[in-house]
Amino acid sequence: RVLTQDELKKIAAYKAVEYVESGMVIGLGTGSTAKHAVNRIGELLQQGKLTGIIGIPTSKMTHEQAVSCGIPLSDLDSYPVIDLAIDGADEVDPFMNLVKGRGGSLLREKMIESACKKFICIVDETKMVKHLGGSGLAMPVEVVPFCWKFSAQRLRNLFQDSGCVAKLRVYPESGEPFVTDNENYIIDLYFQKDIGDLDVASDTILRLPGVVEHGMFLNMATTVIVASELGITVKNK
Ligand code: A5P
Repeated sequence: RVLTQDELKKIAAYKAVEYVESGMVIGLGTGSTAKHAVNRIGELLQQGKLTGIIGIPTSKMTHEQAVSCGIPLSDLDSYPVIDLAIDGADEVDPFMNLVKGRGGSLLREKMIESACKKFICIVDETKMVKHLGGSGLAMPVEVVPFCWKFSAQRLRNLFQDSGCVAKLRVYPESGEPFVTDNENYIIDLYFQKDIGDLDVASDTILRLPGVVEHGMFLNMATTVIVASELGITVKNK
């Protein structure tokens, strides 16, 4: 039987949870892959196989999930250094750079995952790409709602040579702007051509007033766990 994408996500997540030790402060990721890791940590706590875990959730949604799993929670103010974070990604390049935020939680994810000693990224093989932003899918940028059209235009202008289309993310049902956990909007960038040097692209986006954060997670993952039909691959920095 061929495994479903969700089964592959679960396999990657369970593998990552093997790195969790009792007493650790753990960054809890967001999304359909990370959710399996959160459930698994909750299960091991309940069975007494893990003790003294403190979870730092990367979104309101994960916060709720972790509470229902019985994981004791805290935040970055109380725990500015995190032992390990486990989270999914939308794209992973051969250098372990990531695109995240198609679920909209990029800001809290980046704050928490930049404060980790170890960050394990868990994906199924469909997330592997040659170049970030090359899959034709969204590269999210979180912006303040104030004059978001102005910010979208400036983002478009920045990447004119890459054939950039910048679109406000909306809820499909209502057509209303998608609002992040931090009450911001998301502009999704779509590129027709390579965006070139990622560090330059990252710095240029972050310099725009009105931009809060973007979904490129460069040089942050210390381990990537990829689950495929052929098995699990663990790649370390
Ligand atoms: C949330 O905003 C994202 O960064 C997710 O971590 C990412 O989109 C991966 O989500 P899935 O595991 O659901 O694909």
